[in-house]
Amino acid sequence: MARYFIGIDVSTTASKALVIDEQGEVITSQSYPHELSTPRPLWSEQDPEEWWRATSQALRDVLKRVSPDEVAAVGLTGQMHGLTALDAQGRPLRPAILWNDQRSGPQCEAITEKVGAKRLYQIIGSILPPGFTAPKLVWMREHEPELYRQIAHVLLPKDYIRYKLSGAYVMDVTEGSGFGAMDIGKRAWSDEMLAALDIPRAWLPELCESTDVSAYVSQAGAEATGLRPGTPIVGGAGDQPAGGVGNGIVSMGQCSLTVGTSGVAYAVSDRYTPEPNGRLHTFCGPIPGTWFHMGVMLSAAGSFRWLHDEILAGRSYDELNQMAASVPYGSLGLLFAPYLTGERHPHTDPLARGAFVGLTLRHSLPHLVRSVMEGVAFGMRDLLELLRGLGVRPAEAVVSGGAANSPIWRQIVADVMGIPLYTVNTSEGGAFGAAILGAVGVGAWPDVPSACAQMVRRVDTIAPEDPGIDSYNRLYPAFRGLYPALKPTFNALVEFES
Ligand code: XUL
Repeated sequence: MARYFIGIDVSTTASKALVIDEQGEVITSQSYPHELSTPRPLWSEQDPEEWWRATSQALRDVLKRVSPDEVAAVGLTGQMHGLTALDAQGRPLRPAILWNDQRSGPQCEAITEKVGAKRLYQIIGSILPPGFTAPKLVWMREHEPELYRQIAHVLLPKDYIRYKLSGAYVMDVTEGSGFGAMDIGKRAWSDEMLAALDIPRAWLPELCESTDVSAYVSQAGAEATGLRPGTPIVGGAGDQPAGGVGNGIVSMGQCSLTVGTSGVAYAVSDRYTPEPNGRLHTFCGPIPGTWFHMGVMLSAAGSFRWLHDEILAGRSYDELNQMAASVPYGSLGLLFAPYLTGERHPHTDPLARGAFVGLTLRHSLPHLVRSVMEGVAFGMRDLLELLRGLGVRPAEAVVSGGAANSPIWRQIVADVMGIPLYTVNTSEGGAFGAAILGAVGVGAWPDVPSACAQMVRRVDTIAPEDPGIDSYNRLYPAFRGLYPALKPTFNALVEFES
């Protein structure tokens, strides 16, 4: 009998179920989109029931192609940090507050002051940004006390799916790391943080490693999805660490650049060595006994999608790529600041905003398109520089996400980074990584690196080109100057946003 592994990815834009076999061949996949709601400035929310509807439908679809009896394990991944507050019956109390929601800036400042910045960085592995889960809980206590009183459980998006599949309240340590209440070095909830946050331990799920079998599909979960009751569900990992696994980033010195809705520079570490000023996340890794460093920009391919959907609606992505290719390095002196949803690294500021700077009468749509690609690439370079500051000096990086699918944007990113970028055969990233974690969890592979060595292969390499490297090295300092120069302006604009 064949043995298949299903990776479930509850992303910001869709829920996906991906089936792989023991060799890592993709057998089938299906996904259904989610709505995102931004009812107020700074807010970003989603209905957890929509994740479940989309996931269970995707599972029912893929299980028409493979027999539920042949599914040896399910691995979970998804957008990180989203506060999913449940009552005692496990029902969502309000829409989930997502990773890119920026409302809890004041709560982050208060918590940081209470714990002390340096101590906080040491415990939670970075600054506490508004995207993290814990400050959103504190926001609920201050702004929605009626709902807050009814909280009995707090989960993250993919863990809500685990709960719906199995009835178990469990979170893996990579996701727990982005909650803001874990002692990352110890891979456990931090009593000190919980006391400072005044959050009851009883609300928090048990923590497990990414490759642990964390739960089993229940009768109700089976009826809703078509999975076999008793199918093992492994811990899984947040979308970035699962994407790291899916991209084969499993040992020291390897690095990935993911230009998805968010932009992430990711590198593995075999010790817990947080950035002393908290300017990067250092989180528990999906391989037991490892950690990873991660720099996050909030609007990467998200900036490009905005340009495509809102500004150039009706034009295809191919047309946008052609426009960008028709314009020289530096877009004739036009810079784009990619802070459309505030920023996390290196400028942690919920009020940072997007900007085109340097417009002249010579600029037209193609220049805007290229400068958005370049501005996002510069934002990614900021993240790579933070990694370099920690002594992580990758000689190359795997690139994935929206930018990896566009030859011109890929070249721009390679030129801006100044290192070769390569792509791998597993464009499914997080879902693929989650399926690998499932396979390792039930013993199909002895460990994650050996599974990846077999399943993840290089496809092609994009070398940086000298004229691009040179132009972008000269332009980068001007990009670095944008945020400090515009910060007072961003602050002054906020009162006009609602
Ligand atoms: C990581 C982060 C995002 C989300 C959404 O810290 O906030 O990458 O996980 O993809």
